[in-house]
Amino acid sequence: MQLPTSSSIVILTGAGISAESGLSTFRGGGGLWENHRVEDVASPEGFITDPQLVHRFYNQRRAQLRTVQPNLAHLALAELEKAWPGDFMLVTQNVDDLHERAGSQKLVHMHGELAKVRCMLCGEVLPWEGDTQPGTPCPTCGKKKSLRPHVVWFGEVPFALDCIGRALEKCGLFVAIGTSGHVYPAAGFVELVSPFAYTLELNLEASQVASGFFELRSGKATELVPALLKELLAGIQAPVHATGP
Ligand code: APR
Repeated sequence: MQLPTSSSIVILTGAGISAESGLSTFRGGGGLWENHRVEDVASPEGFITDPQLVHRFYNQRRAQLRTVQPNLAHLALAELEKAWPGDFMLVTQNVDDLHERAGSQKLVHMHGELAKVRCMLCGEVLPWEGDTQPGTPCPTCGKKKSLRPHVVWFGEVPFALDCIGRALEKCGLFVAIGTSGHVYPAAGFVELVSPFAYTLELNLEASQVASGFFELRSGKATELVPALLKELLAGIQAPVHATGP
């Protein structure tokens, strides 16, 4: 069946799209993220319990960003965005900056961004390359002990859910790439899509919500996503066959 290319598209990515760039997924290593329980380093409780550990953990993640590059899947999505004739939204659960560095612009980081920090007192969100410590002062309000990673932790509300929901309701094509379907609300996005839309999951293995998709393609993102780009470009460029008088 030919994939629709004349309507709007929403793409959802998870840690699996960055795995081949060398970034760990969340549930690949026995439930540990870089040898830490996700709850210990990605929750408000974990931050209150041991802010030094959490600052150090995100400092390491931020430093690691500088050692990895976007892969063919990130690059293919940036190409698709440029060629797509209709509305295009790339929603990522990832906090890395590989989509941006690949050239994606119509991008929504629903779980926040590693390369930014937020002041809990004045609310300022700041690009941040280096390390933070519990005592690092906020450059805007000067207060200490108020900076935290601009990342959505367990129990916190993801960003931009309203505009993501609107895009899902009206899209004709929804593609989920490299996400396990363990974490809501992202895992429930496929249920928000019109029953007339085409839904496609690209993953190494079926996700927890695979049954909600019209089609599943198994394999590595760096193989499946460039192939999807080629298929969609052919559909976009295909001449509309005249139906005659
Ligand atoms: N190509 C395609 N898919 C892959 C690849 C690959 N090379 N490697 C792994 N995957 C798939 C796995 O099969 C799995 O389904 O990527 C998915 C990764 O799942 P998770 O580690 O659970 O990551 P994700 O789905 O993004 O987690 C969602 O959970 O911990 C929170 O906030 C965190 O954003 C994260 C959210």
